[in-house]
Amino acid sequence: MTQPHLSVLAAEVMQHFSEQQCRIVVDGTLGAGGHSELFLQNHPEIECLIGIDQDPTALAIARERLSPWKDKLLLVRGNFCDLAQHLRTHHIAKVNAILLDLGVSSMQLDQAEKGFSFMREGPLDMRMNPDAPLSALEVINEYTENDLGRIFRDYGEEKQWRAVARVIVQARSKEKILTTLQLSDLLMPLLGWKKSRGSNPMTLVFQGLRIFVNRELDVLREVLPQTIEQLTPGGRAAIITFHSLEDRIVKDAFRFAASDKEDNEGMGCGIFLDKKPLARVLTRKPILPSAEEMDRNSRSRSAKLRVLEKLE
Ligand SMILES: C[S@@+](CC[C@H](N)C(=O)[O-])C[C@H]1O[C@@H](n2cnc3c(N)ncnc32)[C@H](O)[C@@H]1O
Repeated sequence: MTQPHLSVLAAEVMQHFSEQQCRIVVDGTLGAGGHSELFLQNHPEIECLIGIDQDPTALAIARERLSPWKDKLLLVRGNFCDLAQHLRTHHIAKVNAILLDLGVSSMQLDQAEKGFSFMREGPLDMRMNPDAPLSALEVINEYTENDLGRIFRDYGEEKQWRAVARVIVQARSKEKILTTLQLSDLLMPLLGWKKSRGSNPMTLVFQGLRIFVNRELDVLREVLPQTIEQLTPGGRAAIITFHSLEDRIVKDAFRFAASDKEDNEGMGCGIFLDKKPLARVLTRKPILPSAEEMDRNSRSRSAKLRVLEKLE
């Protein structure tokens, strides 16, 4: 049965907006609407909450959950990487608060037919947006050994990326790889159980595939400058990441926005130009879930929250 999605770092996110006037709020990863519900409960001054998700099932669930506030809701099916465009389409100039809670929800993981989980038999799909052109099926069955290896190395950080790619290419020459458990059974003899880390050996392979299929790092790089651009002075953005690849991108983008120096790579190493800082970072170190939250919700274990405030 599908488990309800538990919103990660919910109190910590809310605390960063408790003193803010949140008239216009963007939840760029609406999911089950849990964080949005907290915003709407805690900020009666909200005039419009724009909830974006690329998964129509998530939007339907959130629409139902947030129905008490339906007059304040603007639900958008789309990718958060088009944030500026979505706001222009709806004639919204600037916003006071932006939240991104990255990755997939537990509801998506639990839906076997989405193919995100190595624990459930399902088609190799992994698209958060069911209409996106590329699914994991094509990647696994059609990409070259080199390209597959790079996906597992760069997006999964799987140490055995070369061997994983080789095993897949050998197996698919005999029989097409169609399902999650077929892929997982195929790789189990190679990866075995990493007892010391206590995680399923398929975790990194599936993570790499999912990130690649959904262009997760690219869309994050695309949305970050728009996030800072779309905030009102004094407005805040909170971003929750779930692995080091994402966290590094957020950390660097925040640091760049807050810096008064720009590394002008085009002019050669070590040449820095002055620029105006656009924002200040409110979380010198990322905020992590409490031990109690990690016990209650295993999905929260790798979460990190960073918050930035646009300068006046
Ligand atoms: C972790 S869940 C969000 C859960 C939500 N904060 C809550 O408390 O219920 C992430 C959601 O964001 C969506 N999502 C992830 N990346 C996205 C993107 N680039 N554009 C739009 N939606 C995205 C996923 O489909 C998923 O429903």
